[in-house]
Amino acid sequence: MAKRELAEKIRRLKKDRGAVILAHNYQPPEIQDIADHLGDSLDLSRLAQRIEERIIIFCGVHFMAETAAILSPEKKIILPDPSAGCPMADMLSADDLVLLKKDHPDAAVVMYINSTAEVKAHTDSCCTSANAVKVVESIPNGKRIIFGPDQYLGGWVRSQTDREMIVWNGYCPSHQKIFPEQIEKLRKENPDAVVMVHPEVNPEVAGVADQILGTGGMIRFASKSNAETFIVGTETGMVYRLEKLYPEKYFIAASKQAVCPNMKKISLEKILSSLEALEPIIRVAPDVAGLALSSIERMIEIG
Ligand code: 13P
Ligand code: SF4
Repeated sequence: MAKRELAEKIRRLKKDRGAVILAHNYQPPEIQDIADHLGDSLDLSRLAQRIEERIIIFCGVHFMAETAAILSPEKKIILPDPSAGCPMADMLSADDLVLLKKDHPDAAVVMYINSTAEVKAHTDSCCTSANAVKVVESIPNGKRIIFGPDQYLGGWVRSQTDREMIVWNGYCPSHQKIFPEQIEKLRKENPDAVVMVHPEVNPEVAGVADQILGTGGMIRFASKSNAETFIVGTETGMVYRLEKLYPEKYFIAASKQAVCPNMKKISLEKILSSLEALEPIIRVAPDVAGLALSSIERMIEIG
């Protein structure tokens, strides 16, 4: 079936079902085009809590749908491909975290939202790239902080807050495909461009950037900046998102290899099947969800 026909069928069925489509900023263009709401991890968590529709087709990866399911257990949260995971989230298990807490019993636990529900169940507060600094700053001074799974976000937050942090060694394989040489080459070709990179990049890449921002931060920065050209150091889906929002500006991917294969598992065909069958539904065991909820709510409260 042609993309346009598929999109039309999805629109009709979505209306019949009373469903809403949420999509992360990294989703493929055709999915961004049919989404009701697009956003970063923090926007999507807030939306999942706030919107009235009881059926949510979540176009993103597993931890995002899981977070929505924890926040809104009464809603049907459908992930069109349940195998769309986040390798970084899987780099820290709940058992690892329990052991780490035993070694540092006095420490507070802040976890990136890119973590499993089981890990969140052992967490004091979650954070996203948009509010990680604020969340860490909300922990009383003098208290050590266990942070995971992302070593690069953790290292960047430590540099911004000067807090004592015990940081897990996870990383995002897609953001590790961005290299400083690529940025330097693009900068030479576009001397007036502003370089924005995600805090998941490694410090060598962050060191050659002008701005370190989550995807929501990139959108806000591009809107208020006087620059016309931006080099975008994150997953390549973000370039389409920015181009659609600001057609008068010019966005260049820092690395065309920075693709998240899991984000790209969602397709129009899978969305249509999900709407027809109203599955696969993402469920979280009530005991785990109960414990994980307060860490997510604390993050949303901090903003
Ligand atoms: P944002 O919250 O900045 O959109 O990031 C999500 C993510 O998975 C980054 O790889
Ligand atoms: Fe996970 Fe990286 Fe994909 Fe984000 S881009 S969902 S951190 S693998």
